Amino acid sequence: MAIDYSQRIPNNVDLASDRRLQRALENWQPGFLDWWKELGPDGSTDFDVYLRTAISTDANGWANFGYVKMPEYRWGIFLAERDPERQIAFGDNKGQPAWQEVPGELRSTLRRLIVTQGDTEPASVEQQRLLGKTAPSLYDLRNLFQVNVEEGRHLWAMVYLLHAYFGRDGREEAEAMLERHSGDPDKPRILGAFNEKTPDWLSFFMFTYFTDRDGKYQLASLAESGFDPLARSCRFMLTEEAHHMFVGETGVGRIIQRTCELMKEHKTDDVRSLGAIDLRTIQKYLNFHFSVSLDLFGQETSTNAANYYSQGLKGRFLETRIEDDHVLTDAAYEIETAEGGGIVRKPVPALSALNERLRQDYIEDCGRGVLRWNKILEKAGIDFEMKLPHRGFHRRIGAFAGLNVSPDGKVLSEAEWKANESKWLPTDADRAFVTSLMGAPVTEPGKYAHWIAPPARGINGQPVDFEYVRFN
Ligand SMILES: [Fe+2]
Ligand SMILES: [Fe+2]
Repeated sequence: MAIDYSQRIPNNVDLASDRRLQRALENWQPGFLDWWKELGPDGSTDFDVYLRTAISTDANGWANFGYVKMPEYRWGIFLAERDPERQIAFGDNKGQPAWQEVPGELRSTLRRLIVTQGDTEPASVEQQRLLGKTAPSLYDLRNLFQVNVEEGRHLWAMVYLLHAYFGRDGREEAEAMLERHSGDPDKPRILGAFNEKTPDWLSFFMFTYFTDRDGKYQLASLAESGFDPLARSCRFMLTEEAHHMFVGETGVGRIIQRTCELMKEHKTDDVRSLGAIDLRTIQKYLNFHFSVSLDLFGQETSTNAANYYSQGLKGRFLETRIEDDHVLTDAAYEIETAEGGGIVRKPVPALSALNERLRQDYIEDCGRGVLRWNKILEKAGIDFEMKLPHRGFHRRIGAFAGLNVSPDGKVLSEAEWKANESKWLPTDADRAFVTSLMGAPVTEPGKYAHWIAPPARGINGQPVDFEYVRFN
């Protein structure tokens, strides 16, 4: 299914034949561009950036590389191809044809799901807006901008659904998406992690590794939705999301790599004095970003999650590949949760545990990249292992929120927690140190900041010293 670039808004939803929708989106577009100029990547308007842009949604043809000025990026509406035979795969409506229109009784629930997802997309752009000022290389700057324009497009994807299927309420929600801002005391973004700052590149890489991966799992469960336009939107978004997590994984890996090199060269653990980030600090950032991302999955047991599933709105990760009845009314699922001041494992009705199940899939996925980071350490002969902390560690949402849980899963007293917190989470001094490494941007092609190794290869087969961004 090709994308029509002759339109003001590139799309594969035949926007040209829907005047009402076209007008609604064209009304929204100037506000979006104003938002991008005001809260998108700071000072980047005139840069030519070597970006990929979607040109079609099939497996091979969707990525097209070339220099683009970001305000001219072809944000548009791209849905994965429609399967006319598609059926709802789970819940009470299992086996019925997927909905092409919003079922009346599910309207407000579905709208809320779309708004919650949509709100995260511009939020992350806002959080990352100043990072270009301290980019460790042109390669990294380009990757930051690629992530930013695609998050902008993800906002478009959700706004399209609101405009196309939710009438006036949808238009109001689309406006509100540009009015809430990350960290705004009066109108914050909806979810906690999206109001945190992303002040430095270690945070950025951890964010794209852990928090964009939450995005992957939310999108994957919405990609199972019985509401077909939502499912198809999310399916295409997932292809873009993969690059964001790649940026995170390789970014953290390159920092570890550089630290290992310096540790070996100077035979010391104290790489701070050599202008790099010590492994303990990297582990603390990992602990922080993993735990705040876990919160995004919500309560361990949740009637909302059960309802979304039974109603056919939000499935499990890779729902159709799971072998069970896809209704789950008689099934149980074992969860780890907090009870009576301790941590217990217990079976609960599977329907109520869907948030926890998705979180479990997420945790396993997170672990795979950590293994690859540990391979870097092992190869360098450095005796240190990065670890994901226990799921109960440093949680603000869910059953663990009331407990002090150590990274290895022990419940601690308040005093024990206080005595150790600075070993497990970045302190103000740690953050100040990491920030102190973030100097002026490195803008010479092929040069990399001292605290990070160059990537193994460039983008789209280009060399690592390619001029990924031209400043004009
Ligand atoms: Fe996104
Ligand atoms: Fe993302």
